[in-house]
Amino acid sequence: MPTTTPPRNWTKASWKDFSALQQPSWPDQASVDKVLAELSILPPLVFAGEIRSLKKLLAQAVTGDAFLLQGGDCSENFSQITAPKIRESLKVLLQMAVTLTYAGAVPVIKVGRIAGQFAKPRSSDTEQVGDLILSSYRGDMVNDAEPTVEARLPNPKRMLKGYNMAASTLNLLRAFTRGGFAALHRVQAWNQEFVSQSPMGRSYERMARQIDQAIKFMETIGISMDTPQINQAQFFTSHEALLLGYEESLTRIDSTTGDWYDCSAHMLWIGERTRQVDGAHVEFLRGVLNPIGVKLGPDYDIDNIKQLIDVLNPDNDPGRLTLITRFGMNNVEEALPPLLRELKREGRNIVWSCDPMHANTYTAESGHKTRSFNDILNEVTSFFEIHWAEGTIPGGVHFELTGENVTECTGGARDIIDEDLNYNYQTTCDPRLNAEQSLEVAFQLAEMIRR
Ligand code: PEP
Ligand code: CO
Repeated sequence: MPTTTPPRNWTKASWKDFSALQQPSWPDQASVDKVLAELSILPPLVFAGEIRSLKKLLAQAVTGDAFLLQGGDCSENFSQITAPKIRESLKVLLQMAVTLTYAGAVPVIKVGRIAGQFAKPRSSDTEQVGDLILSSYRGDMVNDAEPTVEARLPNPKRMLKGYNMAASTLNLLRAFTRGGFAALHRVQAWNQEFVSQSPMGRSYERMARQIDQAIKFMETIGISMDTPQINQAQFFTSHEALLLGYEESLTRIDSTTGDWYDCSAHMLWIGERTRQVDGAHVEFLRGVLNPIGVKLGPDYDIDNIKQLIDVLNPDNDPGRLTLITRFGMNNVEEALPPLLRELKREGRNIVWSCDPMHANTYTAESGHKTRSFNDILNEVTSFFEIHWAEGTIPGGVHFELTGENVTECTGGARDIIDEDLNYNYQTTCDPRLNAEQSLEVAFQLAEMIRR
C-alpha cells in the first residue's frame, strides 16, 4: 500500500489531458514516442530515499532551521559536461555553502541546477539572427544553440543524450561528494585559483583557516573526524520540469513505499511561464512526492497562488513547496509583502526562496544580455528585510552561477563593466554570476542570515 494515495484522478500521464505550454514542436511524434519508451525502462537517476531526505531538510527551512542554497547554470550544455566544469560548479556551491554555514551559522541545503537543467522556456518561439528567422533555442535536450536552421530543429534523440549526460554528471557529483573531495578538511583547497588573489578569495582564505583550526582542535581533543558530517557533503540536484514526456518517463513507483516519484532529479520546479493552475505542468507535478518549487513573477494573482498551493500541497506538508519569488529589485517591495501576509495569515507552510536573477535582466549596449551585481544584491537584501518586517522566514536563495571565470554579469569586486562582457561571455541562455561574484554574494548573505 502506498503511504500516500496519489491525488484523485492522477496518473503519470494525466497531464496529457491538459494544455502544456512551452513544449517543442517535435517534427515527428513517432520518434518522440520511441525515445520516451526507451527512457522509461532506463534506471532512475535519483532514489526516492534521497528525495525524502531533501524534503525533510526543506521542512527545516520553513522554520528557519536550515537555509536552501540552489544554484547553477541557466541552461547546462552537453559540450560543457566535463570533469573540470562539473568540479568547478560543485566547488563554488560548496564554497558558498561553507561560508553560509560558518559565517551565517545555519545548516545549508545544497541543491544544484545541475545534472538535468537542459530544457528552457522561451518568451518567443522565434529569434531573428541577421536576416534569418530561427526557432528559438530551447535547451540542449531539444535543439542546438548554434544559429542555423538545421541546428535549431528539435530532435527527440537529444532527450536520451540528456539522460546520459545527467547520469554521468551525477556519477561524478556522487564521487566528489562522497569520496573525500567535499571533506571539510579541504575547505581551503576549494578556493579557485583566479579567485584566491582577490579580496573575496582572501576573505575566504581567512575563514577557511579558522575552520581548519576548529577541525584540528576537535581532532586534538579526540573527537572522531571519521563521520559523514566531516568527510562528505549532501548534495542534491534540481531542474525545471519542462519537458513533460521526459519527466513522465522517469517517474517511477518507489518499491519501499509504493509512492510515485519523479526520479529525474531530487527537486523539480515549475517556471513562471508554465505555472497555470489548470495547466499540464501543475497537473503532472501534483502527483509526485518530490519537493516542488514554483517561480513567481511580480504579476501574480493572489487567489491564483492560493489555488496553486491547494493543488500542489493540499496537506500543507512542510518541505513540499518552495515558492521562488523573482520580482526584480524595483518590484519586490510592492509585490512581496501582500503575498507573505496572506499566506502567513492562512498558516501555509512554505519555503520562501529568492531568485534575484530573472527579473533583473537587461541588454547592455554591447548587445549582451546581462544583470548587475548590485541589482541582484539589492533584491536579495530587500527580500530579507521584507521577511523580517513581516515576521516570516527567508528560507533560501536561487542563483544562476558558474564556477568559471566568466564575464556575464556586471559589477562585483572586480567591477566588470559593459565593455568587459565580451571578454568571456559563454552562456547560451541567461547571464550567470562567476565564481568570485558568487562568493561575494555568499559573504553578504551570511551577514543577513546571522542576524
Ligand atoms: C530559469 O530559472 O532559468 C527561468 C526560466 O526562470 P523563470 O521561470 O523564473 O523565468
Ligand atoms: Co535563466
